Amino acid sequence: MSADREPASGDAYVLPRHPAELDRLDVQHYALREALGANYLAPVGRPARVLDVGTGTGQWVYDLCRKFPEALVVGLDLEPSKPGAPANYASLRANVLDGLPFMDDRFDFVHQRLLFTGVPLNAWPGLVAELVRTARPGGWIELVEGATRLEPVSPASDRLSGLLKHLGAARGLDATGAVFDSLDAHLVRAGATMVTKQTAALPVGEWGGRIGSLMASDIRALFTRLAPGFAAACGVPTSETEDLVLAAQREWERHHTTYSFAVAYGQKPR
Ligand SMILES: C[S@@+](CC[C@H](N)C(=O)[O-])C[C@H]1O[C@@H](n2cnc3c(N)ncnc32)[C@H](O)[C@@H]1O
Repeated sequence: MSADREPASGDAYVLPRHPAELDRLDVQHYALREALGANYLAPVGRPARVLDVGTGTGQWVYDLCRKFPEALVVGLDLEPSKPGAPANYASLRANVLDGLPFMDDRFDFVHQRLLFTGVPLNAWPGLVAELVRTARPGGWIELVEGATRLEPVSPASDRLSGLLKHLGAARGLDATGAVFDSLDAHLVRAGATMVTKQTAALPVGEWGGRIGSLMASDIRALFTRLAPGFAAACGVPTSETEDLVLAAQREWERHHTTYSFAVAYGQKPR
């Protein structure tokens, strides 16, 4: 598996790689893993080949490599994974919008998490069809995506979510939660069976213990990182975004705010 080809740019992605983004994604990974009690929910068994699409830092795939040391685990992303990859890991740099560079029926488990900030709404049906195509008959496909806003709605949080939606909508990304709502429908449409979906509302803020604290640093880092983008695309000064982030943090503690993830998985027919 070659790692040296430079992929075409993922023009739609709103969070290009930055050292702080690596930390944020790992923090989010630990929060999700703790909240779900597992790295995935599909009844996968012992896979020989695993594919993770939009793998980010690589923390999820590294966990999988250690759980299944005899498996080949492949991570595909526009960007390289972080250092420290286990020996059974192969990193591939590619743009999912060009289709997946694998033959049909290759993987026992195909996983994709948090690509709604990078994949335009109209590309979802084709991408999920690609994920199902590369799974072997009897293999599992799992999708995880986040909501487009925090609950309950509160002024500063909602303003920040609105700015992110504005940024995303200009790139054709989901601004209404359509991806979150339709993960299971995408799997069914792509031919998967035994499709199951569940959602988990994670606490955001110190009120929510360790998971709440991890989620607060994730979301604080997300909006802080987006401040220059909000300034360029929405004309909102960086200082205003910083003030909104401080106000939002107070709201999270006061309202016991949550952020929801949807997990859907299905099996490719045998
Ligand atoms: C929000 S991160 C999620 C990373 C990881 N799945 C996780 O849950 O921690 C989204 C990742 O998708 C990658 N990405 C965005 N658009 C992409 C594209 N068109 N092709 C391949 N990867 C893409 C980004 O580089 C980033 O690493």
